[in-house]
Amino acid sequence: MSDSEPILFVKDLAVGYDDFLVANINLELKFGEIIAIAGPSGIGKTTILRTIAGLVKPLGGTIDCNAPRRGGIGYIPQKLGLIRHTSVYHNVDLGARSGTPFWDEPLTWFKRRDTRVTDAVNRMGLIEKIDEPVRRLSGGQQRRVATARTLAQKPKLILADEFLSELDDENISIVLQAVREYMSESESAMILVEHNLKRASEISDRLFQVKDGKLLEYEIDDSETHPIATNEDEVAQ
Ligand SMILES: Nc1ncnc2c1ncn2[C@@H]1O[C@H](COP(=O)(O)OP(=O)(O)OP(=O)(O)O)[C@@H](O)[C@H]1O
Ligand SMILES: [Mg+2]
Repeated sequence: MSDSEPILFVKDLAVGYDDFLVANINLELKFGEIIAIAGPSGIGKTTILRTIAGLVKPLGGTIDCNAPRRGGIGYIPQKLGLIRHTSVYHNVDLGARSGTPFWDEPLTWFKRRDTRVTDAVNRMGLIEKIDEPVRRLSGGQQRRVATARTLAQKPKLILADEFLSELDDENISIVLQAVREYMSESESAMILVEHNLKRASEISDRLFQVKDGKLLEYEIDDSETHPIATNEDEVAQ
């Protein structure tokens, strides 16, 4: 892996299920970069992330990802996919397991996993809840468990789907700071889906919107609170 190469190179990608939802997607993502995808409900944002994550088959085009095969892509799903009756620890360990190769150092496997779990739970401000079953946590706390699960995996590419929803301002700052710290330590990159356009533009280096079956880049103007958009309300709602 070389820093000069992009972590993700997407060419003429078309995504959808039976029919096309979004086509002609061209993206190049560098290490350290954060891009955000906005757009109205049901337009295909989650489908784009799931396709890049390898969970949905592309309908056309290519996706080249310069991340390790094992655990290299971390996906924080919109529907969290947590195991509700088991502990925060157990759920975050699922991420740590998938990112900690056993054969590299078999004797320290458990210890390495344990360190990753505790560290990720700590970063998400949930250490006091680590032994609680997930079902006893609030919606925002559960979302932070899903983020901790992905950080424990130590991915190079984070795909985050609405990972800040249900969080208050204070927790948004905690989560964002933790993710940014992780990204600078690990030289990773992130694509996030965020329906709140103002927040998306604040967090990201580049902002895209899905419109009329295409992924279009927005210009972020730093002198303005909002990016330059032709019809912002249409995108934000
Ligand atoms: N597994 C599936 N099989 C068939 N169609 C699906 C599947 N998942 C989603 N769809 C359809 O694809 C379209 C886009 O869904 P997607 O979840 O990508 O939208 P979204 O932009 O993420 O919306 P939201 O902002 O509400 O999360 C929707 O019409 C949805 O019904
Ligand atoms: Mg979605």
